[in-house]
Amino acid sequence: MRLILQNIKELVQVDPKNRLWVAGKSMAEVQTIKNAFLIVQDEQIKDFGRMDELALNEFETDDLIMEIDCSGKMVFPSYCDSHTHLVFAATREQEFVDRIKGLSYEEIAQNGGGILNSAKRLQEMPEDDLYFQAMARLEEIMQTGTGAVEIKSGYGLMPEAELKMLRVIHRMKQNSPLLIKSTFLAHAFPIEFRQKRKKYVSLIVNEMLPTIASEELADFVDVFCDRGFFTVEETERILVAGIKLGMQAKIHANELANSGGVQVGIKCNALSADHLEFVEDKEISDLLGSETMPTVLPGAAFFLNLKLSPVRKMIDAGLPVALASDYNPGSSPSGNINFIQSLGCLKYGMTPEETIHATTINSAYAMGISGSYGSIACGKVANLFITKEISSYSVIPYSFGSNLIETVILNGEIQ
Ligand code: NIG
Ligand code: FE
Repeated sequence: MRLILQNIKELVQVDPKNRLWVAGKSMAEVQTIKNAFLIVQDEQIKDFGRMDELALNEFETDDLIMEIDCSGKMVFPSYCDSHTHLVFAATREQEFVDRIKGLSYEEIAQNGGGILNSAKRLQEMPEDDLYFQAMARLEEIMQTGTGAVEIKSGYGLMPEAELKMLRVIHRMKQNSPLLIKSTFLAHAFPIEFRQKRKKYVSLIVNEMLPTIASEELADFVDVFCDRGFFTVEETERILVAGIKLGMQAKIHANELANSGGVQVGIKCNALSADHLEFVEDKEISDLLGSETMPTVLPGAAFFLNLKLSPVRKMIDAGLPVALASDYNPGSSPSGNINFIQSLGCLKYGMTPEETIHATTINSAYAMGISGSYGSIACGKVANLFITKEISSYSVIPYSFGSNLIETVILNGEIQ
């Protein structure tokens, strides 16, 4: 079966060079083809180019062909959302109200709210309920253009509940058309371990990670390395243990303070260092010498009113930057990447082109899939979306809160 998209007003994020990430000044340039066609075959992008180059008579007659007229509409590679916590048991709007009334995110966490609140609810919820709720969230992000997503554990905290979360993610991988990567996240110390930190880290290293590895439940290992959460030493112990078991490292770093998280992430060859509100020149130069993708989560900074990551400075220094949603009930209750692009432009001084790279190819790199997702290139997986009729691609971040996506194609199939 072939799918032929014709008369595409503009085919966006074309990359014949198949770059694995785009950094610095290059982030300002997005390659497009106006009045284009794109052919999908066997789940992959087979060919694309200008409409006047499309030779329909090349097709064998027994090919089943479906044509879609995209006049006035644009086609993009699906977004890759490299950082979410979208398996959770309950929303936390009470904390949202408490914050409006003056409590800080850290104060709420210290009082047993925050992650511990989510953990309590998750521990009580049957696996099936968790699964169906999370699948509904996947459906929601699919409609707003996401075609690949990383999902973390970290609301279980205790071994049984962490495994429950990871099994839910595993089941989602098998049943969703989205490409899913799973991450074990050491997120917070359970109350009963607050005075026994070393014991909890040992529980993770000696019991949880080996079981997770033996059931092949996690692609990545991640730690919330920040003030009030895991120290640099604890983080390194956990990341190294995960790496030894075949997981690649990622890290939550420098959201609440300059935690040293960036450096320990780089030392462990982390695929990405995420949050990065507290980034100085030293972090920028260390990241420049690394293979770690700086990943900024504008939804969390917006929702928690955090200091903003110096994205402009990082890109101007030559770094690549990825943006992700951080979809979770405590700090970013939305997985809408179009809105994340709006925040990238409006709050961080990124151009629309920079946000396109940041939410496609760079975020694909941050989840280890930029060889086959994140841009329009022959042989890549046909995860695409067709917009409504729009005047230019900049109208997507401009129209914050709207969904300008009309048709979603995943693995070559219309959803
Ligand atoms: O990425 N920063 C750490 N963890 C999550 C928030 C978790 C929560 O509050 O539930 C984040 O923002
Ligand atoms: Fe997070």
